[in-house]
Amino acid sequence: MAASSLAAGDATGWFERLYAQSRAGNAEVPWDVPEPSAHLRALDLPAGEGRRALVVGCGPGRDAEHLAALGYRTTAFDISATAIDLARERHPGTPVDYVVADLLDPPAAWRHAFDLVLESNNVQALPREIRAAAIGAVGAFVAPGGTLIVLAAATTRLDSDGSGPPWPLTRTEIDAFATDGLRLLSVSQVAAPATTLPTRWQALFTR
Ligand SMILES: C[S@@+](CC[C@H](N)C(=O)[O-])C[C@H]1O[C@@H](n2cnc3c(N)ncnc32)[C@H](O)[C@@H]1O
Repeated sequence: MAASSLAAGDATGWFERLYAQSRAGNAEVPWDVPEPSAHLRALDLPAGEGRRALVVGCGPGRDAEHLAALGYRTTAFDISATAIDLARERHPGTPVDYVVADLLDPPAAWRHAFDLVLESNNVQALPREIRAAAIGAVGAFVAPGGTLIVLAAATTRLDSDGSGPPWPLTRTEIDAFATDGLRLLSVSQVAAPATTLPTRWQALFTR
C-alpha cells in the first residue's frame, strides 16, 4: 500500500487506506497496539498539571491517552480520519481533543502553543523528500519553555538499503529538530531488543 502510494507521488495517502482496510478487517496496522509506547513510558514524565500537550500522528490514541492520564491537557492529531474516528470510539469520554490535521499544513493557532510535544515514530514513516518540512513543522508547535520529545528508530547498517517505510532517522535528522529557536537538551540511543530496528533515538529539545 505504501509503495503504490509513494510511486504515485502521494507520500501520506496510504495511511488512511491502511486504517480503513484494517477497520474493515482486511489489513493489520503494525503499530496499532493498545499499550502506550514503552519508550514514552520509560521517560517517566512528571504530572502534566494542566499543561498543554500535542501528540503528532496519534493514530488511535495510545500515547495521547497516556499523556492525558498524566494530567496534560492533550490535543492529538492524525492525517487519517479513520484513525481519529478509531481514537474517539476506543476512548469514550476521553478528555483528549482528537483532530484530523496534516503535519505539513497545521492550524496556525498551534504555533508555539504546547508545553509538551510528542513526535513518536511518524517522521520515520515519511519519505526523505518531505522530511525536512515535517521536522520543521514539529518544532514549531513547542511553546517558549516547552519540551519536544522525539522517539524514533535510528539508522543502522541493517537498514542501509533504504527500503521502507520506516526509514530510520540519522543523527543529522535528529539535530535538525533544533531549528527556529529550539535547542537540543539530550539525545541518546537506546536498545529495542528483539525488533527489526534494534536501535532507537530518544531526544529532548526545548525552546
Ligand atoms: C508509523 S505511524 C505511528 C503512529 C503513532 N505515533 C504510534 O507510535 O503509535 C505514523 C502515523 O502518522 C500519521 N501521519 C502520517 N503523515 C501525517 C501527516 N502529514 N500529518 C499527520 N499525521 C500523519 C499516520 O496516519 C500514522 O497514524
